[in-house]
Parts: sequence; C-alpha cells; structure tokens
Amino acid sequence: MTHTPVVDVLVGKHAVGETVTVKGWVRTRRDSKAGLSFIALHDGSCFDPVQVIALNSLQNYSDIQKLTAGCSLSVTGQVKASMGQGQALEIEAQSIEIVGWVENPDTYPMAAKRHSIEYLREFAHLRPRTNVIGAVTRVRNCLSQAIHRFFHERGYLWISTPILTASDTEGAGEMFRVSTLDMMNLPRNDKGEVDYSEDFFGKETYLTVSGQLNVETYCAAMSKVYTFGPTFRAENSNTSRHLAEFWMIEPEVAFADLSDVATLAEDMLKYVCKAVLEERADDMAFFAERVKKDVITRLEALVNSDFVRMDYTDAIEILKASGKQFEFPVEWGVDLSSEHERYLAEEHVGAPIIMQNYPKDIKAFYMRINDDGKTVAAMDILAPGIGEIIGGSQREERLDVFDQRLEEMGLSKEDYSWYRDLRRYGTVPHAGFGLGFERLVAYVTGMQNVRDVIPFPRTPGNASF
Ligand code: 4AD
Repeated sequence: MTHTPVVDVLVGKHAVGETVTVKGWVRTRRDSKAGLSFIALHDGSCFDPVQVIALNSLQNYSDIQKLTAGCSLSVTGQVKASMGQGQALEIEAQSIEIVGWVENPDTYPMAAKRHSIEYLREFAHLRPRTNVIGAVTRVRNCLSQAIHRFFHERGYLWISTPILTASDTEGAGEMFRVSTLDMMNLPRNDKGEVDYSEDFFGKETYLTVSGQLNVETYCAAMSKVYTFGPTFRAENSNTSRHLAEFWMIEPEVAFADLSDVATLAEDMLKYVCKAVLEERADDMAFFAERVKKDVITRLEALVNSDFVRMDYTDAIEILKASGKQFEFPVEWGVDLSSEHERYLAEEHVGAPIIMQNYPKDIKAFYMRINDDGKTVAAMDILAPGIGEIIGGSQREERLDVFDQRLEEMGLSKEDYSWYRDLRRYGTVPHAGFGLGFERLVAYVTGMQNVRDVIPFPRTPGNASF
C-alpha cells in the first residue's frame, strides 16, 4: 500500500525514469488532440497538483476520459521531465485505477472554478479540496508544529488542562453549561434555583474559556509550562474574529514579570512566522497572489523588526489626538474596541504593538495591580489587519492583595480556594499570556475571517458537520 506523496515527486525526490504510485483526487482534466489526457492530481501534501499524462493506449482510457473534478485515483507511472510550463516534473501513467467516481459532476459542489469563501463555508466537509482551504490547512499545521517546537526548545512542558470545569477564568460569564439534567424538568431548591447537586458533577459545570488557572498550578511547580487546546466562549459576537470554539496557546512562567512574557510573546511570534516563510513558501505565494498582496512582506517585517511597546494611557492620548471620528468615543477607562486597535496598529504604528498597563476595572480579577493602584500589569498584542491576537498579564501573587480584589469583584474565596493555595504555599511572581490560534492563522495567511482558518467553525447558529 506504499505510495508517494505528490510533494515528493514535485520536489524531485524521485529520479526521472523512476516508477512511482501516487494517489489523490482529480482537480482538472483536459484532453489533447494528440490522443492523450492531462490530469491534475492533488493529495494535499503541497500546493500544486502533479500533472499525470494518460496515453490513449491505457486499457481503461475510455473511462479516464470521463473523469471529472473530485474523482479519486491511484496512478502508477514514470517520473518524467515536463514539457509544459510551470512545473519541472510530471508522471506518465502506466496504469490508472479509478478508486471513486463523482456520482454526478453537475452536483459536485467543489467543481473546478473559483467559489466565494461564503459558499465554501456551506461545504465544510468538502472545502479542504480547494486551493485556498488546502493552503490554510498546511499553514495552520506548520504554525502548530512550530509553536510546540518553540516551547520544547526552550524547556517548556506542555500541560493538558481540562475542558470540563467549574471555574470561569475570565469572569465574563460567557460559558457554555454542560449538564446531564433533564432541561424540561430541572430539579429546583426551596428558592426556585436549579439544584445542581443532582447533576453529573454535583455542581454547575462548563466548557472551559481558558486553561490559565489550571496551568498556573503546574507553573508553580514546573516553572515553565504551556497549554495548547480548544477553548469555548458563548459570546454572541458575529464578527470576523470571534468563534465560539477556538484554540488557545497559553504559556505560564514562574519568577517572571510582564516584560519577560512580552518578550517571550514577541520571540514566539517571530519564530513561528519565520517557520511559515521557510516551510510554506508555496502556500504563502498563493495567499500573496489571491488573498492579500502584502502578506509576505508583512510577515518579513514582523520577523525583522522590534515590536512597539506602548502604555494604554499613552494610546488613549494618541487616539484622542488622531482627529478621527470613532464610533466608540475614547476616554481613559474604556476598553479599546477593534476600530481603536486597528487605527493604532495599522495607521499609527504600522507594526505589532504590545499594549500594556490597562485600567484594572476592565480586566480580569487575577491580574497584578500596579503601584499606581489604578492599572494592572496586563498586555495585549495588537497586529495590523486583525487587532488583538494575544492577551496576557502578570498574575497577582500577593495573597492579601488578591483577596481584596476578589472581595471588590464580589467573588468568593471558597470558589478560588485551590487558586489561593498557590499564593499561600511558596508564592512567586509569575506571568503568562494567551494566543488566539485562529487569529494568528488569519493574520499569517491574510484571510479575512477566522471562520475560514479553522476546519469546522462554531459560531452563533452554526454547529453543523
Ligand atoms: O484575552 P483573553 O480572553 O485571555 C485569556 O483567556 C487569558 N486567560 C489568557 C492568558 O493570560 N493565559 O484571550 C486570549 C486570546 C485573545 O487575545 C484572542 O486572540 C483569542 O484569545 N480570543 C478569541 N479568538 C477567537 N474567538 C474568540 N471568541 C476569542 N476570544 C479570545
């Protein structure tokens, strides 16, 4: 059953004259007057399909002439130097086994023509056969491998944090509830509230919004750790950068402050972008041609320049002085909206910004209070073209200050007792961040919408497939 990936043929791993077997799907087929058929066969291993020459001497040539886009084939043939333009090598078929027909070419949704990206979303199960989603898939894979490599090379341990949890890490109340209770017949206590003691876990349970609180516990023993897993947010945001299910990478570092993890984030982004430029030149050339002209130069600039560090307070002044009419007015204390982030990253600086020291009232309970008492040691990284891709902070490691914050925010000590223990037993300064993986993939490929960089997007009203 061994066969050769198309990429190996195209990069010349097999000598001209060697016999190989390639397997894949027909992208296009055309007949020549000279009595042969040219088949573009792809198998997902690289951007380009390989050209297969089928001579009319093949015993099933009449069937081959009926092949249409989407049919699956096993081709055995000889590697040849190509006479055609654009690619150096092709395969002259000695035999072609038709593995699967397309039952009616007129109804095949991925017929070889340009489809709109919205149309492709309706066919999440077939869209990986297209150029664009194939390229996204390979870049996404390259990025995730590079992320693991980056942390592994620096001695970080990958920690699996739970998906089912009782904690709302971000305190934003945007959690999906998980329950085995009968929704039509919920058990209630004397006050009429739902009685979760009868539920599977004996208490209210959700899908996690972030692995951070859990990974902090391992940080307080293993020093340098990270999570890489799916996270869930029930925020009803129908935007091009929000998903209900997305993947997040969350490193956490002991004996580290905000500046240390800002540097770590910058190094990581440069490392993974460099990996894509080196390993996925074929896909990036496609994105530059078809999706976003400056996508490669933008990545090269990111790899080679220092990120700009800016305080939230200074950013507010810059926005006020910009003379721009923003939909959401700017005032110290407001959260930056995407129009503000875009103005700062795209128009004002033109490079990624590490925005630091936000007002405490707009940030989560676990962030470390700065000496001014008004701001927290938080950072967001804003990238031109997409806005926020990273959110992070130094964590409050002082038990008394932390308890005060819990009280201010109306959160109970009991709910966070295990988290408080980390501050009671050998507390250390520590910091970390969360990188939204789909936002990174969108930024790197130039794709406009995060729905097109995750295989099966989950958004309000959409969980089919
Ligand atoms: O800023 P957030 O909410 O931070 C946290 O969850 C922290 N616990 C991370 C940490 O410090 N360990 O989310 C982090 C990143 C955002 O910057 C964004 O890139 C992405 O996660 N993100 C989303 N991506 C897609 N869809 C959504 N609904 C997202 N919400 C956040």
